[in-house]
Amino acid sequence: MTQQPEKLTPAMKQYDTFKKKYPDCIMFFRMGDFYETFYKDAQICSQVCGLTLTSRSKGENPVPLAGMPFHAVDGYLKKMIKAGYKVAVCEQIENPKMAQGVVKRDVIRIITPGTLTDDMLLEEKQNNFLCAVGLNSKHAAISWVDISTGHFFARMIPENMVVDEILRISPAECILPDARGELFSEEIKKLASQIERSGSTTITYRPGWYFEPYDAYKRLIEHFGTKTLEGFGIKDGSGVISPAGAIVEYLKETQKTALGHISGIKLVEQKKFLQIDQVTLRSLEVLSTIRGGKGSLAETIDRTLTGMGGRMFRHWICMPLCDLGAIELRQDGVEELIEKKNSLEQIRGILKNFADLERIVARISTLRAGPRDMLALAQSLKKAEPLKQNLAGLNADIFVRLAKNCDTMQELAALLESAVGDDCPTHLRDGGVIKAGFNAELDELRNISKDVRTWLAQYQQREIERTGIANLKVGFNNVFGYYIEISNSNTDKAPSDYVRKQTIKNAERYITDELKKYEDKILTAGEKSLELEQKIFEQLRVQCCGFIQKIMSLAEIVAMVDCLAAFAQLAISQNYTRPKMTNAAELAITDGKHPVLAEILGSEFVPNDVELGISNNADVMIITGPNMSGKSTYIRQTALLVLLAQTGSFIPAKQATIGLADRIFTRVGASDEIVRGQSTFMVEMTETANIVNNATEKSLVILDEVGRGTSTYDGLSLAWAITEHIANNIKCRTLFATHYHELTALAELLVNVKNCNVAVREWMDEVVFLHKIVAGGTDKSYGIHVAKLAGIPKTILERSKEILAELENTFQKETGGEKFTKQRTKEPETAMLFDQKEKDVLEKIKSLDVNNLTPIQAINLLNEIKDFLKKQ
Ligand SMILES: Nc1ncnc2c1ncn2[C@@H]1O[C@H](COP(=O)(O)OP(=O)(O)O)[C@@H](O)[C@H]1O
Ligand SMILES: [Mg+2]
Repeated sequence: MTQQPEKLTPAMKQYDTFKKKYPDCIMFFRMGDFYETFYKDAQICSQVCGLTLTSRSKGENPVPLAGMPFHAVDGYLKKMIKAGYKVAVCEQIENPKMAQGVVKRDVIRIITPGTLTDDMLLEEKQNNFLCAVGLNSKHAAISWVDISTGHFFARMIPENMVVDEILRISPAECILPDARGELFSEEIKKLASQIERSGSTTITYRPGWYFEPYDAYKRLIEHFGTKTLEGFGIKDGSGVISPAGAIVEYLKETQKTALGHISGIKLVEQKKFLQIDQVTLRSLEVLSTIRGGKGSLAETIDRTLTGMGGRMFRHWICMPLCDLGAIELRQDGVEELIEKKNSLEQIRGILKNFADLERIVARISTLRAGPRDMLALAQSLKKAEPLKQNLAGLNADIFVRLAKNCDTMQELAALLESAVGDDCPTHLRDGGVIKAGFNAELDELRNISKDVRTWLAQYQQREIERTGIANLKVGFNNVFGYYIEISNSNTDKAPSDYVRKQTIKNAERYITDELKKYEDKILTAGEKSLELEQKIFEQLRVQCCGFIQKIMSLAEIVAMVDCLAAFAQLAISQNYTRPKMTNAAELAITDGKHPVLAEILGSEFVPNDVELGISNNADVMIITGPNMSGKSTYIRQTALLVLLAQTGSFIPAKQATIGLADRIFTRVGASDEIVRGQSTFMVEMTETANIVNNATEKSLVILDEVGRGTSTYDGLSLAWAITEHIANNIKCRTLFATHYHELTALAELLVNVKNCNVAVREWMDEVVFLHKIVAGGTDKSYGIHVAKLAGIPKTILERSKEILAELENTFQKETGGEKFTKQRTKEPETAMLFDQKEKDVLEKIKSLDVNNLTPIQAINLLNEIKDFLKKQ
């Protein structure tokens, strides 16, 4: 790929060295006013960014090259990162004018999808996580950090939940140990392929020593400046040390700056949060919709006004709480804001246009803050003061606590305000950032440049008087700088201290000592004032660094207030009520609505009740009803309401009592989710196994057409067995929407199973869906009616009615209708309605051509079948 070293220019040799050091990065190589990319990088860049591909040297081995102007680099970086690449930025680290030989360069930063800090590259309301996974024989651990906000987490996790957790975090990048020849290479390979399938996470392999617990521990305490990690709740020898330490090493490798804003790590304890696995998160469309596009829960109900609030909001709805006290603490806050609309309005008024303090702090800490960051920080700190006063006027415990801890740092606000002007430019390099009056030396330097004209006019006047040459002129050109020009007729009057510099057609040009000195002063004054501004700015930055902790805790307070105020705003605008939360396994919702659909459909949405658990002695509810009648909506709505209630939010219902759930499981039958491309039956089986193995009596299970992914008998038996198992053994709150009407028979057999169906009105051979869930089962499928609604031609509809009638007939005859249900209850543990043997026999009989069978053949066959069935 690269050329013979001896043929390379010095700059290209330099390039080669850096490229070897960062082989997995695209190298942006600074050359003057451009960043250049070479060889394969150039080809990739030209494809991804649409840059023109040219070549550097002509001749035998032209080097492919694609370049971009330095000031436009952000846009190109964004494209490369979005496409999943890592970019190493190699800068000139000395002034090319001063350089002897080739300019010194160095890689100053590596930008990877998981280590972004620039607003331009980030989504405002989404965290940008980098995560790492540690595996060893005993346990798995995950750690994740958002360096754009400073949030750093870690948790131990059962191995079978690692993928779920990673997909919940949905990191932009995931670090795994380079698996070749390692102990866990198989596990790591499998993990990587599962993560990669999700599509949005870049996988980065790093050597095993990144994860070595001993070094990782040392790295962490060194980074935090602590003696141990106990203050973070992390015991010596904890499994989380390995991935957390790997993250710190990777940040060092890529950032090459201080990371003071990552000042602590939070240990996430599993028991504190409602567990939502990734299948559930997806099928409930919590963060994004299954088919992409608008309509996720987060998007629909988010009323937050700040980036920090938006990110916390998403965090809250992905990790609802499991602790009654913690939930009620939030609920009390929301309730008070609903009651005191004035305060709510004032608070939201302040939050509007509140700067993203977390991201500003991240940039301050990593030396990437610009003038506007300082300005925004100053302005928001000033707004924090009235916010604090508003909080102090509220009574709910959560606000009392927040107000007490709210330090608004007015001294920092005042300092920044006196230093940075309201109209400051985006880039420090443009100058004019620091306000007049902040620094006397800077003011003087700026005055010099400003006074140029006056000084030159005065100087010209003085020289005219001294020499007596009336048409003497002082001028400037780019090549020779300042000069005194005397026309040829007067050159003899030029004083002896005039040094001739240039001859033009009708005149001579001179320079004097005084003019030369003044010229130097002006030219350097510009440079000097820029330099000084940078120095002052750096001092301000250092001063801000002293406030990092305080700014981060203020940011957290603002985010929390934003979330609570958003819940209040949502409750007011959509008529939500406060659910009564309990520790019992109960669930009673009156007139509940689907939070997303109800917002779209408005009053057309038909509210529904749910009663499960101790309140009506039913753990399992089987919901039957025609296609498109609202089954899926109903069961998902129930799950969403429980989830939402456990975040501390109010919910769309008239009244609700909700017993805390420890986990929510949702499984959607294959045909409702065709996109995944695995063997559908296999998917259903594994996912169902997961429920059966992990659900407890406090879980909420939502099953939507499970069993659909396979043939009728298999599917029905599977559905039957799962329901039986849940009702008999797990006894957790379960909603099962199914088109297997046969399942309704279970309600007669098991005390804690109840039937419901979706009310339908038939009117002049038309079906009207009322979307109302009522007690009792259905025995009719309305699929053909739905087909009619969808515009299927009449002839086909008529024919399908015939077929349906025939099928129903056959089913009754072949199986004896209800008989099989009774037979099953005798052996509740058997999963299948018919075992394989019986099925084989049935198949055989079905395929017989009886008319062409001789009596002897018939008798032989009967014997054969009997023997076959006897063989056990
Ligand atoms: N409670 C409701 N009120 C109004 N419309 C509803 C309601 N429930 C469902 N719908 C409408 O019916 C459509 C089909 O609902 P869905 O739950 O998918 O039916 P099913 O699962 O029974 O096939 C939804 O897209 C929605 O537009
Ligand atoms: Mg459905």
